[in-house]
This record gives sequence, C-alpha cells and structure tokens, in this order.
Amino acid sequence: MKISLQQTVANARTMREMFAQAVRGEPYELKGMLFSEVLFILAALQGRDVLRFFESGRGRGQSTLLLGKLLPHATVISYEIDPLSADVDIAARRLQPLTNVRQCFGNSIQIFPRILKEGDIVLIDGPKSYRAVRLALQCLHTGKPAAVFIHDVYQSLGERRFLERHLPEAFFSDDREFVELTRSLDDPCWRTLEEQLPGQIRPYGYGTGATRSYGFTVACIPRGERDYRGLLMRASLDGGINRLRQTLLKQTASA
Ligand SMILES: C[S@@+](CC[C@H](N)C(=O)[O-])C[C@H]1O[C@@H](n2cnc3c(N)ncnc32)[C@H](O)[C@@H]1O
Repeated sequence: MKISLQQTVANARTMREMFAQAVRGEPYELKGMLFSEVLFILAALQGRDVLRFFESGRGRGQSTLLLGKLLPHATVISYEIDPLSADVDIAARRLQPLTNVRQCFGNSIQIFPRILKEGDIVLIDGPKSYRAVRLALQCLHTGKPAAVFIHDVYQSLGERRFLERHLPEAFFSDDREFVELTRSLDDPCWRTLEEQLPGQIRPYGYGTGATRSYGFTVACIPRGERDYRGLLMRASLDGGINRLRQTLLKQTASA
C-alpha cells in the first residue's frame, strides 16, 4: 500500500480508539514524542509488514517504548549516541520488559546507511535540523528503507521548507485533519510537560505567526524515485546558508 497523507489520516481514524486504549495509563517522559505523533507513524505504516524499525535518538525511550509495544512483530533497533546520559538508565528501566527492543549505542549517522536492509523503517529524533535531513537522505540513497520519519520539523524551520520544496511526497503530523482527529490523545503529555516545565511548552507553541504547528511535528518521507545524492548536496548547502542566516539574526538582535 502506498504511504500517503490521505491513507494515514484514514488509517488513524480507524486505529484511534484502539490506540487510545493501548496508551491509556502510559506515563509520558520529557523530550519524548507525543502520543499522536506515534499514532501518525503507526497509521502511515498500517498494512505493511514491518520487520525492522530503526530509531536514532532514544533519550528516555518514550517513542521506543510505544513502538516496541505497538509493533510487537517488529524488532525495534534503537541507537543512542550518548551512553553517559542520565536518560540511558531511565530508558533501560522502561524498555527492559520488551523483548523486541534492542538498546544500542553509537552514532546513527555512521551506522544506519551501512546496515539498512530492504523494507526497513527509520525514525530520526536526534540528530536534529539539517543533520537529520541529511541522515534521512543518506538512508534513502541506499534504496533500502520504505520510509524515513523525522521528528521536530515544525513549520517555519528551514529544514521543513527544504522537505516541502524538494520532497513533495513528504507529509507532516501537523496536518489539520490529523491534528483534529488525534490531539486529545496528547492531554496526558501536555499535563506532564506543564507540571515539569511550567509555561515553557504549549500545544501550538512551535513555529511563528500564522504558521504555528501543533506539537513538535513528525515528517514522513516515503521512499521515491529521486536523486537523493543530489538532494544531499542541496541540503548541505541550504543548511550552511540557514546557519549563517541564524547567526546574523542573533548578532543583529543582540547589537
Ligand atoms: C529528543 S531525544 C529522543 C527522544 C525519544 N525519541 C523519545 O521519544 O523519548 C534525542 C536523543 O537523540 C540522541 N542523538 C543525537 N544525535 C544522535 C546520533 N547521531 N545518533 C544517535 N543518537 C543521537 C541524543 O543524545 C538524545 O538522547
């Protein structure tokens, strides 16, 4: 089945109640993906035989835990670059009961493009920004993954514009219809965030002006017939220009 926004929304509509029951009572951990964002991934993949799901960036294991539980026939292979982080023990404790989750350490930028196989799925939740886009393009360039997801690509970011311009098959969890359908699933996540980081993170707090995203936002990039190597060069150039622009803006603001 083709991975598309339309199909993802339709799948989410039928999966919503079952998903709500599955996550009821699950605690939410800081830095984690929202419940609705995990449903976005599952709905995009509905009807596919996912055997291996690669995650880059485990943190405290929020996405890892839900994916491990809700994709029981897949092996979730989660890479974390920082073995000394205090989050490592938190994730290990939470993930310990899941026999289909492998908690690995290493830099996915170096590892993923070497080990992917046909039909694998990739989720990138660290590195961030253009580095995440470059890793996604490197993975897609292998011709192996069926889709790559990237977390934290809300509207108004340079990398979001890059994806919209150069990969029109990409679609996003801040789609209005998807948000209307699923945002109430996130009430426990926002409550935890408000308790632990009062006033800092709000449901429509990302992006600027009229182009505010709901939540942190996941991108889904289905594999297509594209010149991913060429796009990789464009992403490097675009990322460099974006960094320069940010530096200049900061300097102007502090002058
Ligand atoms: C926001 S957290 C991940 C949260 C997690 N996905 C969840 O839902 O709870 C980002 C993590 O990515 C890790 N990270 C950053 N760059 C990485 C890389 N190149 N390879 C693997 N992990 C990386 C960071 O150390 C951090 O723990």
